[in-house]
Amino acid sequence: MSKSLLKGKALCVITGASRGYGRCLAEMFVTHLPAGSLLLLLARNTDQLTEVSARLTSLNNSVRVAWEKFDQSNVTDCSQENIHSILSKAEIRLQDFNSVFLVHNAGSVGDLTKYAWEFSDGNMVANTINLNVTGTVLLNASLLNEIRKYDIKQKIVVNVSSLAAIQPFSSWSLYCAGKAARDMFFQTLAAEDQTLRVLNWAPGPLDTDMQALCRECADPTLRQTFNDMHKNGSLLKCKESAAKLITLLEKNTFVSGQHIDYYDNLE
Ligand SMILES: NC(=O)c1ccc[n+]([C@@H]2O[C@H](COP(=O)([O-])OP(=O)(O)OC[C@H]3O[C@@H](n4cnc5c(N)ncnc54)[C@H](OP(=O)(O)O)[C@@H]3O)[C@@H](O)[C@H]2O)c1
Repeated sequence: MSKSLLKGKALCVITGASRGYGRCLAEMFVTHLPAGSLLLLLARNTDQLTEVSARLTSLNNSVRVAWEKFDQSNVTDCSQENIHSILSKAEIRLQDFNSVFLVHNAGSVGDLTKYAWEFSDGNMVANTINLNVTGTVLLNASLLNEIRKYDIKQKIVVNVSSLAAIQPFSSWSLYCAGKAARDMFFQTLAAEDQTLRVLNWAPGPLDTDMQALCRECADPTLRQTFNDMHKNGSLLKCKESAAKLITLLEKNTFVSGQHIDYYDNLE
C-alpha cells in the first residue's frame, strides 16, 4: 500500500472548514487534488464559508467548491436524510469520483474552566459530547452509507484527533474523553471495514481560535504553558501541520486506524 491517495479525482468533505485548521486543510486539499475534484465544506458560519469558498476557487479553479450550513451538534443535521439532501443540493454525483475523503475536523474544547468534579450542567456536557462524538459518529455513518451506493475505489477517513486523545490534560476531561472516544471509534471502523483507509491524525498545538480557550483553562500550570507557547511563538502554523498530513496521504504507508501525531518521527 504505497500509491498516493491524492491521485484520483476526489470528493473531499471537510467539517469545520469555516476557519482555523479546517480552513487550512481545505486550502491544502484544493491545491493537491487533481482537476475535476470537489470540496464540500461544512460548518455553521455561512459568511466565513462563503469567504473560504471564494479563496479556494482563487487558489485552484479546476476544483469545484461547495458548502453547506451544518451543525454537527444537531443529530438531525447529521442524519442520512439531511446528508443526502446536502449532496443533491450541491449536485454532487458520487459515481463521478475515484476517491472520497471524509475529513472529520469540526470540534470544540468545550468548557475548560472546570475540573472533572465541577460538571453539573447536563446540557453543556451533552452539547460538547454531541459535537465531538455523537455528531461525528452519525455524520460518518450517513456519508459512508451514501458512498456505499457506488463503487468508489478509495475511501479515506481522516479523524482530526489530538494528543488529548491519548494523554490526560488536567481540566480538559470532557475534551480528552471525546477525543479518546473518537479515536477508538475510528480504530474500530478501520477494523470493521478493510476497504477504508482510516487515519487518526493529531495535528499538534495550532495557532487557532481554539488555543484562546486553552490559555484560559482551569489548571494553572497548563494555562501558563499555553500562554508561554502563544507568547514565544512556539505554536504550530496550521499550514505546517496540514502539509505533514498531505505528506502522510501521499506516502500512504500508515496502518488503517493508526493514531499519528505531528511530532511522531515518521521516517
Ligand atoms: N488548535 C489546536 O491546538 C488543536 C490541537 C489538536 C487538535 N485540534 C483539533 O483540530 C480541529 C480544528 O480545531 P481548530 O483549532 O481549527 O478550532 P477552531 O479554530 O475553534 O475551529 C473549529 C471549527 O469547527 C467548527 N465547528 C465548531 N462547532 C461546530 C458545530 N457545532 N458544527 C459544525 N462545525 C462546528 C467551526 O465552524 P463554525 O463555528 O462555523 O461552525 C470551525 O470551523 C478540532 O477537532 C480540534 O480538536 C486542535
